Amino acid sequence: MTEHIDNDRLHVDIKYRFDYFSKFIHFTTEDISALNIFASSAISVIPVISDSVYRKLFQYDITKDYFIIQNDVFDGSSIKNENLSLDSAQIIYRKDMLSGYLKRLLLQREWTNEFLTYLSRIGRMHTSKADSTSINVDFIHVNATLTYIENLFIETVWSNENFDNNTKKNILLALNKVFRIQNDLFLMYYVESLQDNSSIRTTNHEKRKCICS
Ligand code: HEM
Repeated sequence: MTEHIDNDRLHVDIKYRFDYFSKFIHFTTEDISALNIFASSAISVIPVISDSVYRKLFQYDITKDYFIIQNDVFDGSSIKNENLSLDSAQIIYRKDMLSGYLKRLLLQREWTNEFLTYLSRIGRMHTSKADSTSINVDFIHVNATLTYIENLFIETVWSNENFDNNTKKNILLALNKVFRIQNDLFLMYYVESLQDNSSIRTTNHEKRKCICS
């Protein structure tokens, strides 16, 4: 039996999109429970993970520069560009924001519309779609960063001696699904931006052909 999925709705209705995606990858309340179990041991290492992520982002000029530009816009600039460091107030604040996000990802018990809107807002603000709050980060860096964070979580699960193998397996599968869901909620805005920039108007059928070819 084939279930109909409305392509247009996938692009405008976050809940509908999430329902389709999560059904497809079989993301269920059991995955959410596995994440909640993992949270009990991971919360204390999240600030360390957030710190590692910013170290990584500051390791390359191409990623560090986003924070320098954003710092100027945000701050009116008491801190000179070249002085922005991992210990600057702005970066400490952003590390805390990232920690808060990661904690929420693991602790969330009900994936409500409000939570999905939050995940989608995080995606949107990194693209050119969010007007004054847009950061316009190229997708390659987002993909690399998501992979980096996910791998740090995998190491944390793997090295936890209190989890049996079955629990580890369930947490790892759940983590993989969650990161793919967040990736999708980034990617949809990048694809939209690409379509906005295209001067050629296409029908939905033609759009699908473009993406696949
Ligand atoms: C892919 C994983 C990423 C996640 C989960 C993530 C998450 C976040 C979160 C939670 C915030 C704070 C949002 C808020 O103000 O409520 C934020 C802000 C920000 N992110 Fe990301 N981010 C990611 C990747 C990146 C990358 C790769 C860059 C740049 C190389 C970047 C640059 C920024 C900047 C500059 C801000 C500050 C925006 C502002 O203060 O106006 N992010 N991010």
